[in-house]
Amino acid sequence: MEQFSFPFLHTTRTQLPQDIQDLIAAADKATADAYAPYSNFRVGAGLLLTNGQVRTGSNHEVASYPAGICAERAVVSTVNPLDKAQQVKAIAVTYRTATNEGDPLSPCGICRQTILETQLAQESVIAIYMSCPDGRVIYVEDASSLLPFYFSAKQLPGN
Ligand code: THU
Repeated sequence: MEQFSFPFLHTTRTQLPQDIQDLIAAADKATADAYAPYSNFRVGAGLLLTNGQVRTGSNHEVASYPAGICAERAVVSTVNPLDKAQQVKAIAVTYRTATNEGDPLSPCGICRQTILETQLAQESVIAIYMSCPDGRVIYVEDASSLLPFYFSAKQLPGN
């Protein structure tokens, strides 16, 4: 059997560069805008763009549950990855709950696919900072690490 491995780092917010600390703080602030009356799991995501801009989004639930959207996809959908002036350098994700207990939040499978689509379209890597209320962070430098054997446009006919 072959094996897959990838680099990742367990760290804490305060050990990270200031721009990333600010990004995680912005994601944390965005949890206040989450509409999560069903799960009470308020997620915030932040994007750091190559032009220095930070954008944020939060999860938005719907009583018809599958219609809800995760924070990551909400914010990623604000960027056109083909626009060289605003490519995504990093994404941070965190959450708030009633107890604020728990481990760093790792993006769901659909969000991994969506983040990776942006990385492939913009042709530059997106770092992912997975965080939690107590400040622990897991960092991967390349979004493809989180989705081995990913599906991409290359597999579609004509590509
Ligand atoms: N959620 C996110 O916003 N991002 C994730 O990566 C995982 C899950 C949201 C979806 C739903 O509103 C709530 O968290 C519980 O699953």
